[in-house]
Order: sequence, then structure tokens, then C-alpha cells
Amino acid sequence: MTIRSVIAGVGAYLPEKVLTNQELATRVDTSDEWIVERSGIRKRHIAADDQKTSDLAIEAARRALAAAGRDGQDVDLFVVATATPDHTFPATAARVQAALGRPGVPAFDLQAVCSGFVYGLAVVDNFIRAGQAKCAVLVGAETFSRILDWNDRTTCVLFGDGAGAVVLTAEDGKGTTADRGVLSTHLHSDGRHHDMLYVDGGPSSSQTTGHVVMKGKEVFKHAVVNLADAVREALAANNVTIDQVDWLVPHQANKRILDSTAQKLGMDPGKVIVTVQEHANTSAASIPLALHAGVADGRIKPGNLVLLEAMGGGFTWGSALVRM
Ligand code: UT7
Repeated sequence: MTIRSVIAGVGAYLPEKVLTNQELATRVDTSDEWIVERSGIRKRHIAADDQKTSDLAIEAARRALAAAGRDGQDVDLFVVATATPDHTFPATAARVQAALGRPGVPAFDLQAVCSGFVYGLAVVDNFIRAGQAKCAVLVGAETFSRILDWNDRTTCVLFGDGAGAVVLTAEDGKGTTADRGVLSTHLHSDGRHHDMLYVDGGPSSSQTTGHVVMKGKEVFKHAVVNLADAVREALAANNVTIDQVDWLVPHQANKRILDSTAQKLGMDPGKVIVTVQEHANTSAASIPLALHAGVADGRIKPGNLVLLEAMGGGFTWGSALVRM
């Protein structure tokens, strides 16, 4: 018998305010045509002035718990993947736990930028399989609008705010790929590339929050290679072929990265969940937001084999194979 971490519910929250490419073009020297052609992005959601990352995270987690038919009091672990916490400390997860959970259960943040959700899934899955948690909430939540230089057209058009969450519960499995739940996770990082995508501030460097800086072309090149490798690693570890995967749910940074990765893998583009046009890059929130979109509109069904993959600052990257 094997313990599996089963996704019992998925939730999402997007701030009300929508910022279109056309509106952005009135602020910086860009155009709807350029943004759509180079990234596939058409709009993004932006948190209200009084909304913090924890507010987005709490709402997404609340919705995931409702979808799972669970109460926050059932939860014995809260993890929030974010690069845009409310404060340097305490963890944003502590706010989520205080709003929804039982006092005393562990709550912590995890920082792997755009790979944060896949990293979080690996951490939570290991807690559950080690018997240290039975019902966990994992949230990816970001307010990237707060760390963008709104005068830098090379970055400010690419990101958005949002949160997505899953409830993971411990279930008995047989140890085969027919089991529901997380079947494998593979994580990587290569810190030699830390200056390709970073924030030029922080408590121990500038004592400021800083802004996103990216060498877009370089990141793009690494992303296509690393993501395809991470997917192949997941397939090989589980002895499954790409044709057996029902849905690819990638981190949503750029439609061209999604297309190139699918092409490299020989994957039917119709089996890729794409939300980047609606949400832009929401970093750690992008995979659970895309997962939620696929579940909510009925494309992703119970029993489907779903492959998640992400790549972000660090560099960090990874994949997870999950049977819903
Ligand atoms: O989530 C973490 C992972 N992040 C990513 O995966 C992002 C990866 N990178 C990308 O998605 C793409 O590289 C970008 C969308 C950032 C840029 O696309 P690109 O095709 O690599 O364009 P580029 O950076 O080579 O820029 C092409 C031109 C430049 O002008 P010149 O030098 O050719 O005259 C830029 O100055 O486009 C210009 N440009 C813009 N023009 C209009 C850059 N940003 C803009 C803009 N509007 N917003």
C-alpha cells in the first residue's frame, strides 16, 4: 500500500480589476499587437490597493476547501508559494491559517518564484507520504503588480496578480500509475543563472522591495529546453508516454513557450491548458489558476492524467505527474 496525495478540490481567485493591453499602451511605449504577438497575453488582473497577497490566497483557499467539501478546521498543513509576500515576515501562510484554519497547525511560505507551485506540490506530497499531514492546503498567490517597474515595457506587460489553491488529502493507493493523486515530482535549480530573472531589491541587499529585471530572450531559451526535459523526466519515471497524458498544465509565461514546448514533446496542442491570454504570468499562481480553469469548465475530469511543469527565477524548474 502507498499513501497518495490526492487533489480533493481546486479553487481560484482573481482580483476584479482587469488591465488590458490597450490601457497599458497608453502608459508605456507598447502596443496590443506587440504584446499579443510576442507573448499571447491580452489582459491581466491587478489587485486593488487594499488587497494583499494573503487576501487573494485566503479567497482561493476558501474556494478550494469548498470544492473539496472540507472545512479549514480539517487542515493540518498550510503552504503558500509566493515571491510577493505581504511582509518580509511572518509568512503569508500564517495569515491564511489564521483566517481559515486551526491554531497550532504548521504554516509556511515557499519561494521558488514561477516554479513555486510545483515545488510546493513536492513538499506537501512528501509531508503527506511521510504521514506528517493528512489534509493540506497549497496555495500559489502573487501580487506581481507591486514589484513591477511600470515604466519598463520589457517586463510590465508580462505579469498579473491572482491566486490558485488545491486541497490535498492522504488516500491509500496501490503504488501504480492508476492511483489517484501525485504520482511523481521532479525539481531542479541552477543558481548560476540568478541574474537572468531577479528582483533588484530585498531586505538584506537594498532594504527595498525592488523591481523585476529579466533577460527575456535568455530566459525563453532556457525555458523551452528545461521544461521539455522536466516533462520527459516525469514520463520516464512513471513509464508513461506523452499520448497517455490527458492534459498538460504548464506555467503560463508566454504562449510561444507553451507552443514550443508542446511541439518539442510531440504533444497535441489541444491537450494544453492555456490561460496566459487572460491572466498573463501570475508566477506561482499560474498553474493552480490554469488547473482550476480546466476543472471548472469540465475539460479536466476525475481520473485524468495531468502533467504540470514550470520554470522561473533561480533558475528553478520542475514537473509533477498527477492523476486527478
Ligand atoms: O515566468 C518565468 C519565465 N519567464 C519567461 O519565460 C519569459 C521569457 N521571455 C519571453 O517571454 C520573451 O523573451 C519576451 C516576451 C519577454 C520578449 O519577447 P522577444 O521576442 O524575446 O523580444 P525581445 O526581448 O528580443 O525584444 C524585441 C524588440 C526589442 O526592440 P529592438 O531591440 O529589436 O529594437 C525590444 O526593445 O521588442 C522591443 N520590446 C517591446 N516593444 C513593444 C520589448 N518589450 C516591448 C514592448 N512593446 N512591451
